[in-house]
Amino acid sequence: GRTILTGIKPTGQIHLGNYIGAIKPALDLAVLPGYKSAYFVADYHGLTQIHNAEEFRQLSYGIAATWLALGLDPEKVVFYRQSDVPDIFELNWILSCFSSKGLMNRAHAYKASVERNKNSEKDQDFGVNMGLYNYPILMAADILMFKTEVVPVGKDQVQHVEIARDIAEVFNHTYGETFLLPEYKIQEDTAVLPGLDGRKMSKSYNNTIPLFEEPKKLLKLINKIKTDSLPPEAPKDPEHSPIFMLYKEFASEIEVEQMKEQYLTGISWGDAKKELFNVMNRFLEEPREKYNELMSSPEKIDEILREGAEKARSITTPFLKEIKSKVWIYV
Ligand code: TYM
Repeated sequence: GRTILTGIKPTGQIHLGNYIGAIKPALDLAVLPGYKSAYFVADYHGLTQIHNAEEFRQLSYGIAATWLALGLDPEKVVFYRQSDVPDIFELNWILSCFSSKGLMNRAHAYKASVERNKNSEKDQDFGVNMGLYNYPILMAADILMFKTEVVPVGKDQVQHVEIARDIAEVFNHTYGETFLLPEYKIQEDTAVLPGLDGRKMSKSYNNTIPLFEEPKKLLKLINKIKTDSLPPEAPKDPEHSPIFMLYKEFASEIEVEQMKEQYLTGISWGDAKKELFNVMNRFLEEPREKYNELMSSPEKIDEILREGAEKARSITTPFLKEIKSKVWIYV
């Protein structure tokens, strides 16, 4: 079957942007007939940012527990920790020998990091570790190692998937058809989910709503979402409201239609937010409980990931051999 693959890096608590931009579409695709899915914890990507062992451990388990709590079936999906599949790192090196430095200079994550260091006294590049610089190549290895066809992601990852394509093309051009050229899949209307302040929801902007926040705090955060200052009775535009955007993701079709009506005839933002909280909490109650349960028994998560890694390696090891013999690295 055709392979769908996506990963999440453990650099913060999973938030609504991650869920709606990547996890939900990935889980929806995983049940399609004719597809195979590979979903993973991108821990070595996380290491470019998190340099506190205990925090990193918690965050890594957090990603795994999130996927499982939301219904990922490890029997049907190849579900693993990136670091448990060393083949990916061998491929990472091979691919780096086919990636131009100029291409990496243009990568957004690197450029953003250089930008953040602009005010420091030192050479701007000193604030960027080589892991961050190589980030897109490791991600290309993640994707190409599994002959991935579709990569469900948020918009911020589109460039990375394009880089993976570019690298694959260079290799294929040199050694003949080897890698499949991956395509990204974004959800047009939620490819960039806005955060509390209206900018992209992102750990680095501190504007996130954690997916498994306790109900009280969740309501508080929802109430903080920035809205315009239209009076309660004024008609509101559902298409451009982040509250409605979120509502749509958690409500039934009928509820969405009814809510749209209410926006058009006038609903106060306070009420719209309360309704949003209700549908969100209704959906999240069970996964939240499952998440907390899993987080208190990490050995269960380890076992699932161990089995997943074995499955993953049964795919990657023969393919890596094939790649190595093409370039003539002794196998
Ligand atoms: P990460 O961990 O930053 O984010 C995980 C996923 O969440 C999406 N996302 C969003 N989508 C919509 N609106 C938002 N506000 C929002 N914020 C985050 C991201 O686009 C992403 O899909 N490099 C990747 C991890 C990775 C990966 C891979 C992904 C490593 N290897 C291979 C796909 C394939 C990352 O940092 O995602």
